Order: sequence, then C-alpha cells, then structure tokens
Amino acid sequence: MAVTELGRAERRWSDLLRGWAIPDALLASAPEPPYFFDAHVFEAAAVEALARGVDTVSDSLARELLPAGGSVLDVGAGGGAASLRLGTGGARVVGVDPSPELLGAFRALASSSGVRADAHEGSWPGIAGSVPGADVVVCHNVVYNVASLAAFVDALDAHAKRRVVVELTAEHPMSWTRPYWKALHGLVVPDGPTADDAVAVLAALGLTPQLRRWTRVVQMIGETGPGGLSKIARRLCIGPDRYDELRRIVAEMPPPTRRDVVTVWWDKRR
Ligand SMILES: C[S@@+](CC[C@H](N)C(=O)[O-])C[C@H]1O[C@@H](n2cnc3c(N)ncnc32)[C@H](O)[C@@H]1O
Repeated sequence: MAVTELGRAERRWSDLLRGWAIPDALLASAPEPPYFFDAHVFEAAAVEALARGVDTVSDSLARELLPAGGSVLDVGAGGGAASLRLGTGGARVVGVDPSPELLGAFRALASSSGVRADAHEGSWPGIAGSVPGADVVVCHNVVYNVASLAAFVDALDAHAKRRVVVELTAEHPMSWTRPYWKALHGLVVPDGPTADDAVAVLAALGLTPQLRRWTRVVQMIGETGPGGLSKIARRLCIGPDRYDELRRIVAEMPPPTRRDVVTVWWDKRR
C-alpha cells in the first residue's frame, strides 16, 4: 500500500512520541508513578494569563478574528490559560479537558473573572461530536500529548468558524530532561518530535498553517521552585537515594528558564 505524505508525517510524529515512553522495567522499579501532573501549575498559568498586562502572540492572533460577543473553544483547556483572557472581553468560552479537577479550576476562574463559560469533560477528538463549534478554536500546550495528531487537528479545524490557534513549544516539552535520562539510566530518548514535525502533519492535511516563533519565560511545571528536585526525581523514576547524584546533574545542566514557543494558526475560508 502506498504511504501517503500524511501517513508519513503522522507516523514520524507518533514514533518519536512513543520514543518518550518509559521502558517497562524502569516503570516497574519506580518508587512513585512518574506520570503525574500538578493541577496547581495549570491553574496558576490561567491566573497569570488573566493578570497579564499585554497579550501574547497567541492571544493577539486569536483576538484578531474574534468578533464582539463571539465564541472561543479551548481544547485541552487546563485552568483556561489560553481562553479565559479572551473571555473577559465578552466572548463566550467553552473548555474541553479530560481532567475534572482542571475543569473545576476553569469554571471557578471563569466565574470569578465574569467570563461566560461552559466546560465539557472528555478527550479530544472523542468528545468532539458533543461540543459546539466556535468562532476561534485555541489549543495550547496539548499536542505533544496526542499520538494521532491528524484526527485531533481535523476536529479542531471542523469546529472553527474563523481561525484555529495552536501554541506549542518548539521542542518536546521534556526535551530538557534528555541528558538526565542518559546520565541516570543510560537511556537515550529522541530529540523530537518538534513543532516542525507537527506543522508537517498540518500541511499534509491540506491546511495552510502560518507560524510565529517567540520566547516566553518558562511556564512553571512544578520542577522549578521549592520541592522541584523531588518532582524531577519522580519523573525520572529515582528515589531519595539518588538525590545527590541528581542534584549534581541539575547543577551542571539546569532546567530552562525560557522556552522557545511556536504559535501556529490557520484561517477558515469564508
Ligand atoms: C500542559 S496542559 C495545558 C493546559 C492549558 N491549555 C495551558 O496552556 O495552560 C495540557 C492539558 O491538555 C489536556 N489534554 C491532554 N490530552 C487531551 C486530549 N486528547 N483532549 C483534551 N485535552 C487533553 C490535559 O488534561 C491538560 O489539561
């Protein structure tokens, strides 16, 4: 069977993502489950977004095609960092996320900020059929969680009346841990996928994505600040017996304080 350009681009994306899976033996020996997320981090990101003095690149691009009293769909909303700020201008915001805890934070923040908002609990694109379309669809910091990127993006596109705005880090969000995996476990993890690999999938889908590259202060992901070392250790499947070793590695190669980010957007034909 002929491999299409889309098949090739999506295969590359999903193969590279799979390369980040922690080997079973390491998982089995991990003192605590290494896959976890800290809801406070994403809630704090939304609080920060609401308080920001100026729009980011992604905010401006979403706002550009948002009509007065229009609507925003935020896929992988977390606490609402991508959308609630847009809602303070009067837009109706719909958040989709599989995490009830994060949707709780999203609803609470919407309410305290006077934003008209609805929340749908579920995974995209599985839940897409029961979610209404919107003038602008935003999706920030989600795509590196998504192996089947084409179906995910297709459903974003189908739900947008005017524009889709996707924000992602230029490199895999955990790329900074590559030397730590090597030093602690001799494990080589891939140096991809990257934003360019995601854009290749969009282009193969027949979309015409535009890109803007920028840099932001790193979003707190729980690994910096108090208790950060134990969180890095947990992600790397090691316990306190190896904290000294990890401390030395982190001192030599500290986590980044700034992040290269890419905003990718495309418009619907009207
Ligand atoms: C890194 S957080 C980003 C949250 C928010 N967009 C932000 O920028 O702060 C990723 C979010 O995507 C959600 N998520 C992951 N896979 C998803 C999927 N297939 N459909 C919808 N949401 C998903 C997670 O639950 C989490 O809230």
